[in-house]
Amino acid sequence: MEENSVLRFDPSVFVVGRDYQIIFLTTTMGIGWIEIDGERFTDEECGLLMYDTVHKIPVPGDKLNAAGHYTVVFVEYLDKKPYYPEGVEKVRKTYNFYPLTGDDFRLFQFADTHAQTALPIETFNMVGGTCDILLLNGDINEWSDKIEHFYTSYELAANAVHGERPVIGSRGNHDTRGHKAQLLPNYIPTAFRDGRRETFYSFRQGALWGLILDCGEDKYDHNIEYGGTIFFDAFRKRETEYLESLIANKENEYAADGVKYKIAFCHVPITEKFGHPFDVASDIYEYWTKLLNEMGIDLLVCGHMHRAYCIPPHTAGKCDADFPTMVMSIPNVKREDGSKYYVGGIVDAKDGKLIAAPAPYGEPFTF
Ligand SMILES: [Fe+2]
Repeated sequence: MEENSVLRFDPSVFVVGRDYQIIFLTTTMGIGWIEIDGERFTDEECGLLMYDTVHKIPVPGDKLNAAGHYTVVFVEYLDKKPYYPEGVEKVRKTYNFYPLTGDDFRLFQFADTHAQTALPIETFNMVGGTCDILLLNGDINEWSDKIEHFYTSYELAANAVHGERPVIGSRGNHDTRGHKAQLLPNYIPTAFRDGRRETFYSFRQGALWGLILDCGEDKYDHNIEYGGTIFFDAFRKRETEYLESLIANKENEYAADGVKYKIAFCHVPITEKFGHPFDVASDIYEYWTKLLNEMGIDLLVCGHMHRAYCIPPHTAGKCDADFPTMVMSIPNVKREDGSKYYVGGIVDAKDGKLIAAPAPYGEPFTF
């Protein structure tokens, strides 16, 4: 069918707050939107519908959760001339959608796939090929140098959850590099605050309250590697203020009715201690750890280290966390026969406990 070739991948339904941002990519230029039971949700800003090959549509959580399905619509405009442009509907495709309900769920993490899709999907399939919520936890791409580099996240999400399950999007440090990095906010979920799109925010899905943290780059802004193209000092300062605001508003956040699990997600394990030049924001991460302690975070889920290990609470030489940190991602692990595999991570919520384990192999930790 033509719609399958125009729609590059199944959409990704990202969680942001209590709502969603459905993002889909098309092979041709045009206007996209979402319909739920006949109601239309668009990416209109200032009255204008966005004209692009990426379509990022905010959708109210209560509407999509109640409906359990949504329809992706795309109208192609090969020439969006100033007068009488003509659009042709090329995609109208309905997806079932299953938000987290009840107390138990399985989360699967991809992080540090570094532009690979085949081995990560192989791992996902080795551990059952299903999850209730998918986590893309940064460095999914090698960098953001070409628009094509943004496809990796969508290919992974489409192969894993087919547009039918919620996806958590968390940025990695490699994502901030390259010619197209400044376009990233069009391609990833963001919260809108004080006139800016931000990549740190909370979300709520069933019994899960989630907190997405973003460290930005792992070295100082003035590092020659970045050549003056980033300003994460200002970004982290706003993030600190945001974390403080969550505590001030806890009744509507992690202390709200029905929250049973509080999990933080961050590409970089902020509870680790890094030596120079990776010691950027060490004091800030120490403070964020304190704030997360105050929130009563149950677990921090990370990547970045290309290792799989657990930092138990109050480990000497680390930030003094009341919560464990699970680091779960390794690209290109070699087997004895020379073949390679990818290590991701699983978090199961079951009977009030969280059980985290590297996937496909690895020791489970229960918290
Ligand atoms: Fe990283």
